[in-house]
Amino acid sequence: MFDSYKDRLRKMEAKLAYLTDMQREQLALVQLQKLLPDDYYAALSSWSIAPYEVLHICNEIDMAPRRSVVEFGTGFSTICMGVLLSRQDSGAQLIAVENDETWYRSMLQKVEQLGLADWVKLVHAPLTDTDGMAANGHERWYDKKVLEPVLRESAPIDLVVVDGPFGQSAPYARKPAIPFLKNFLADDFAIFLDDYQRAQEKEIAAAWSQELGVKVKDFRRYAMLSTPGSFDSEPFAYPEF
Ligand SMILES: C[S@@+](CC[C@H](N)C(=O)[O-])C[C@H]1O[C@@H](n2cnc3c(N)ncnc32)[C@H](O)[C@@H]1O
Repeated sequence: MFDSYKDRLRKMEAKLAYLTDMQREQLALVQLQKLLPDDYYAALSSWSIAPYEVLHICNEIDMAPRRSVVEFGTGFSTICMGVLLSRQDSGAQLIAVENDETWYRSMLQKVEQLGLADWVKLVHAPLTDTDGMAANGHERWYDKKVLEPVLRESAPIDLVVVDGPFGQSAPYARKPAIPFLKNFLADDFAIFLDDYQRAQEKEIAAAWSQELGVKVKDFRRYAMLSTPGSFDSEPFAYPEF
């Protein structure tokens, strides 16, 4: 009897959390739509970064403000950041790294159609096998020979968005991002890691936290690691009940 009440309560709490999530995603989407030209259709799929996180990233660009942004894994997030950077026209730029050639070509077309080429540099970097630091001394990550010159030119990098390579491409697929980028980071930076609800992403964030000496902030579906002293860019935070 008592167990069945506990079970019902747990289900109600889960439903409430889901509804709260849905509501904040809707509020975020309303805000992000202001970035998109009238009637522009921006495809959103289960692979896209959720609107709330994209809004958090855009707030960070606007409020910090961030000047040199690097993103791994392109799509909806690239379009939103690109339009914001073009509207601000502050000299800030986005380097958007994509491994899939077909997806890269389609993103290139979108960036050109939207007139964002001055603010968004799309880089096609295929995944390659290398001896690295991701899983047992082996990694499969974006081709570093392609990335190295581009990132060197973009340093100091003050915002990093890690939503690729896709999780199934290799064990600890996203782990190499920070060991590789570490020497290109600005003194004041923020890093967003998507899919933080997954066990491997939790381990990755903990490893980066140690490597960089900054704390991991848990936003359930994503994590943020940033140097202290920045403005609080979190969109409409959850109240504490
Ligand atoms: C998690 S997705 C990146 C999504 C991107 N940050 C966004 O907000 O839309 C990682 C990679 O999966 C691929 N991808 C993106 N959308 C996809 C889709 N709908 N189906 C299959 N693969 C996709 C692309 O190669 C992309 O770099």
